[in-house]
Amino acid sequence: MARRRLVYEGKAKILYEGPEPGTYVQYFKDDATAFNAEKFDVIDGKGVLNNRISEHIMTALTGIGIPNHFIRRINMREQLIRACEIIPLEVVVRNVAAGSLSKRLGIDEGTALPRPIIEFYYKDDKLGDPMVTEEHIVAFNWAAQQDIDDIISLALRVNDFLSGLFLGVGIKLVDFKVETGRIWDGDFQRIILADEISPDSCRLWDVKTGQKLDKDVFRRDLGSLTDAYSEVARRLGILPEGGKGGKAGPKLVH
Ligand SMILES: Nc1ncnc2c1ncn2[C@@H]1O[C@H](COP(=O)(O)OP(=O)(O)OP(=O)(O)O)[C@@H](O)[C@H]1O
Ligand SMILES: [Mg+2]
Repeated sequence: MARRRLVYEGKAKILYEGPEPGTYVQYFKDDATAFNAEKFDVIDGKGVLNNRISEHIMTALTGIGIPNHFIRRINMREQLIRACEIIPLEVVVRNVAAGSLSKRLGIDEGTALPRPIIEFYYKDDKLGDPMVTEEHIVAFNWAAQQDIDDIISLALRVNDFLSGLFLGVGIKLVDFKVETGRIWDGDFQRIILADEISPDSCRLWDVKTGQKLDKDVFRRDLGSLTDAYSEVARRLGILPEGGKGGKAGPKLVH
């Protein structure tokens, strides 16, 4: 029996119509996929952790004035968000070479980049989310040049903030992906952050040991994904030292 209307079911999340017009409920599943869904598993507890971590990060971003879709968390797996018109781009910001950048350009994983590098990928699963340039984005009308400029400045602000947030708890932000969307305030269009920011969408390495605390643990079979995500949550002060649900503050890593 459907409680509410399903809007979209993706690989990691489900969107339902929200209680008020212009809102959705974002439900975080335990499903994990990689390599354009060729690799698939169900990882007990992943959705709960990502819901909580994304809440924490989006709330912090709101605190420094970075507009985003998060309204409030509803329960362990769901959050209320502002519905927006998703711009069909995955926006990747890189600080350190890893993943596809290392592969394509032959740069060793772990090499610090001379400056943050932003890449755009066209969101289309059938095409495997191909990389595109600003020329493609404007020519095919996915976004205007002004939108791209706004997206870049938003992405760089998020990068600076998140780099500091994670460094403070002994984690290096190697790269991350965000999605953006449009909302309208009367006649004015604004671009806001949407989707999620979690260890599914970031590369996070322990500063001291280089241990991976992100989805690469799943992609490369490096151990328990929930252990890695729990560690991120614990360091951010979302989980107490020993287990779940407490209110311990962030722990300084020396
Ligand atoms: N605020 C929002 N308003 C509208 N759509 C949103 C919002 N936030 C996220 N979405 C969309 O909801 C979907 C979330 O589902 P999920 O991340 O599981 O999709 P996916 O399988 O990864 O596919 P996709 O390639 O579309 O991201 C995505 O398509 C995302 O673009
Ligand atoms: Mg997605």
